[in-house]
Order: sequence, then C-alpha cells, then structure tokens
Amino acid sequence: MRYIRLGDRGPKISVIGLGFWQAGSRLWGNRGGDVAEKVYVIVGEAYNYGINFYDTAEIYGGGLSEKCLGEAIRRHGIRDEVVVASKVAGYRWIEHSILKAIKRINNRIGFKIDLIQHHWPPPLYAPICKVINALEKAVDRGMVEYYGLSNYNTNLLIKAIECSRKYEPISNQVQYSLAYRVVENRLKKYMEEMGISLIAWSPLAKGALAGLRQPKTLAQKTDPVFRKASTDNELQGVLRRLADKYKVSKSVIALSWLISMKAIPIPGTRRPKRVREYARAGELRLSGEDLELLDRASRKYLRYWGVEYSSLSLNRLIPGFLQQLGIALIRGI
Ligand SMILES: NC(=O)c1ccc[n+]([C@@H]2O[C@H](COP(=O)([O-])OP(=O)(O)OC[C@H]3O[C@@H](n4cnc5c(N)ncnc54)[C@H](OP(=O)(O)O)[C@@H]3O)[C@@H](O)[C@H]2O)c1
Repeated sequence: MRYIRLGDRGPKISVIGLGFWQAGSRLWGNRGGDVAEKVYVIVGEAYNYGINFYDTAEIYGGGLSEKCLGEAIRRHGIRDEVVVASKVAGYRWIEHSILKAIKRINNRIGFKIDLIQHHWPPPLYAPICKVINALEKAVDRGMVEYYGLSNYNTNLLIKAIECSRKYEPISNQVQYSLAYRVVENRLKKYMEEMGISLIAWSPLAKGALAGLRQPKTLAQKTDPVFRKASTDNELQGVLRRLADKYKVSKSVIALSWLISMKAIPIPGTRRPKRVREYARAGELRLSGEDLELLDRASRKYLRYWGVEYSSLSLNRLIPGFLQQLGIALIRGI
C-alpha cells in the first residue's frame, strides 16, 4: 500500500480509502441484523491490507453507519492508526446546528473524528460563510482536527476559501470515476493549485465499473451513471482487456486509474471479500500506454454530464427543513 498526505497539512492516509454508506443503508438493502458484524470484518480486512482511511456520514443509515464503524475500530483497537472522516448534512448551515451535529457524530462514533466534511452546499438562501466559520469553530474547539467540503463546485470552493478566517478546507469529496469526469474540466485543477485533496465518491459507478451489468439495489437502479457505464461496451472492453493483462479484476483497474489521477477513491461495499481487491489498487501501477487506453475510452465523460460540477446541487433549491424531512422519512438512506 502507498500513502499520501491529506491536503497540504493533514494526516498520512493510504492512497485508497473505504466508504461506509453501504453500512445500514436501505437504498443498498443492507439494514439486516448482522450489519455491525460485517462492518467489523470489513474494517479488520481493510486495516490488514493497509487501508487506513474510512469515510461515513451522519445521514448514512440514519447514524447506523457511524455507530458500526466506530464500534468496529474500537473493537479492533486501531483508533490511533486510522483516519476517520464523517459529514454533517448540507441542510445544516447555522453554527449551532453544525456544532451540535458534530458533537453527536463524535458520540455515535465513540471518539473524536479526524475530518468533518460539509456533505453538500447549503440551500441557496444560506450564506456559505456561516458554514465555513462554523466548521472553523469546530476545529478551534478541538471537536475535530480538520474540516473539508463535499460536492462544492469551483465557484463555491473559491467562495468558501474567501470566507475562511483561520483554517482552509483540506479536502473536497466529489463524484469522480472513469464514467464521470466532470471535475477535470475546472474543479480538479483549482483544487491542485490550492493543495486541497480530491476524495472520489462512486469511484466504481456503484459497481458498473467492476463489471456489474444489471443493477440490484435501489441505489444502483436510480443512478444514471450506473446505467451509462454498465452498457458502455467500449469502456467495459478496455477494462476487461487490462484486467486480463494485469491479472486483476476490473474494479482494480478503475480504482488504479483514479489513483494515477491523484484522486483518493473511497469505494464502498457490503462484503468483506471485496476489500482485498480494492486494496490491490493501492499497489498496482498502470503503464502510461494503458492509462492512455483508459483515457481514450472515457474522454466522452469529460462533458457528457455537463461542463461544471453539479452533483447534488439541486438540493440547494430545496429549503433545509424539507431536505431534512425527506431524508428522515427514508429512515436509513
Ligand atoms: N459525498 C457524497 O455525496 C457521496 C455520495 C455517494 C457516496 N459517497 C461515499 O462514497 C462511497 C462509495 O461510493 P458508492 O457507494 O456510490 O459506490 P462505489 O464505491 O462506486 O461502488 C460500490 C459498490 O460496487 C459494488 N461492487 C464492487 N465490486 C463489485 C463486483 N466485482 N461485482 C459486483 N458489484 C461490485 C459493491 O457491491 P457490494 O456491496 O455487493 O460489494 C459496492 O456496493 C460511499 O460508501 C460513501 O462513503 C459519498
């Protein structure tokens, strides 16, 4: 496993992390009785293979993901050797609400987390500076070590940095994969200039880039990127050819490409057996020629989904209390 620094001053993390949305999620059909045990095994596997960066959020499983992840880390006795990130929901923008949510996150996880991220930009009527200054306060009070953002486009990120008084965000978590390359048009370059790490969510297009053709869960069935990637014979063909050449699975190729693009992929899973596969991406180095093949087969996704990054930006049009109500009604997104 290779390691890098998160942001320009953050902790050392593995070049690939692990996402825990799947833990306790109804959309992933994963809310059964043994979720905590499965997370325990997944964390053990991840740690053994050198993956030390884990991502969760207050909305995942209505808090269940955070609870299971924290418990697993404590049971394995590896708190000091891993880096834990969570997210406060984007509908929060008032200082009191953000600080209270972070306190609850630390309580659910059972220790002070390393990185708090604002999950998506606040409703249009809410000032970004309020969010940034509240996150800075959380750092100042010692509730977390660092803060980052998620789904902030270039303009919002520029604004966020202008708002910061004492600390700047060290990361921005955005949708990025071979089937969704919008960030490369503008955002990624700006983040590199500012020393802000790019954490890549949906790095496997929810399994489509691992070769899954038919969606199985609600999360996959409702994702247009899954649909597009799973039926893209050109891209699937190149992934198959390279997987055969390097004697790995398609997912390892898709994740290695992201690592070569200096992104930090955080694939998710409900199954311990996948972790070993994901970890192989942290060791493999694709040749320049093969990276070129992947680039050519996926260049169409630079602009296919739009030019400016806009994932989850429709949320901004919905008043905060309605967003909160909608998520609460799902009872375990
Ligand atoms: N910040 C945000 O707004 C945001 C949004 C979405 C996600 N995220 C984060 O990013 C993480 C990952 O993104 P994601 O959950 O969207 O999806 P992803 O990592 O792109 O895909 C994960 C899914 O791919 C499936 N998969 C992997 N290998 C497979 C194979 N060989 N055959 C069939 N299926 C395979 C897995 O299914 P199994 O479960 O069966 O292994 C898994 O659930 C999440 O856990 C979360 O932490 C953040």
